[in-house]
Amino acid sequence: MTVAYPALRLRRTRATAWSRALHRETQLSPTDLIWPLFVTEGSEAEEPVGSLPGVSRWSVDGIVARAREAIGLGIPCLALFPNTPPERRDERGNEALNPDNLMCRAVRAIRDAVGSDIGVLTDIALDPYTSHGQDGLIDAAGYVLNDATVEVLVVQALNQAAAGADIIAPSDMMDGRIGAIRAALEQGGHANVQIMSYAAKYASAFYGPFRDAVGSRGLLKGDKQTYQMDPANAEEALREVALDLAEGADSVMVKPGLPYLDIVRRVKERFEVPVFAYQVSGEYAMLEAAAAAGAGDREALVLETLTAFKRAGCSGVLTYHAAYAARLLGG
Ligand code: PBG
Repeated sequence: MTVAYPALRLRRTRATAWSRALHRETQLSPTDLIWPLFVTEGSEAEEPVGSLPGVSRWSVDGIVARAREAIGLGIPCLALFPNTPPERRDERGNEALNPDNLMCRAVRAIRDAVGSDIGVLTDIALDPYTSHGQDGLIDAAGYVLNDATVEVLVVQALNQAAAGADIIAPSDMMDGRIGAIRAALEQGGHANVQIMSYAAKYASAFYGPFRDAVGSRGLLKGDKQTYQMDPANAEEALREVALDLAEGADSVMVKPGLPYLDIVRRVKERFEVPVFAYQVSGEYAMLEAAAAAGAGDREALVLETLTAFKRAGCSGVLTYHAAYAARLLGG
């Protein structure tokens, strides 16, 4: 006797909630989430970011409160970005080298308050500190210089490590910066400080709200296409990852997230190393706009997209929805 509609048999395991739970291949948990936070000057200051509904910049005391909140929710790591006051920005981004800058003060405050109960990831790049909004030093034509920038990034990384950062995350896309930072960390007595490289970072249209949050959007002239990757390229992402791993990266990041899950999958299959994705500000804004417009249910949209990152091969996701999602997941 022939079996009718054999494909329909796949549905058997989906008929009940317990069975769906039993067969689920991907488990999302609060421990998969890294929470990006924006730091601002002042005390007890909360400044909502207009283009990121539900996201605020916090003064250092508020950042410490968010760290405690994250610990309570089971989120293992924060990512910090400073909104440097305009008067402290200059052509060379010198404030990045100030050991008492906003970023370093926030790291120390978290360390003093909660010890090593949560990881702190700090961003390496000059864009929150330059008067032109580029990630590196520029020449007279506005071209971002590689080697001169790397020298400055190394000092920025050492300051952040000295302040207590656990993971140094270079987002600048200069060539050779991972090796230079790794060597400096070893020599500087920071052998256990990790490097998560923004290895495959694309010149994306999805970064706009972030640039509002760190105050660089209005300053930026032109774009970042001379150093960030062309969205059309995938093989080049594999070359970027190979270089950063050879130079000493402990983990690699793909950024943005959802439009680049094919890159996540290819990197994971090729290198078998921890891969993270950054669900960036424009993606967050897009989901929030969809939910606000009634185009989808916020809870379901957030959990589905975060699950997709894990399914694609991510060890974790940087997402502005981290606290919201951790709550949904019972954290
Ligand atoms: C800059 C940096 C950017 C983001 C993280 N680090 C923006 C850029 O490259 O212009 C974007 C993150 C986001 O959009 O959420 N070094």
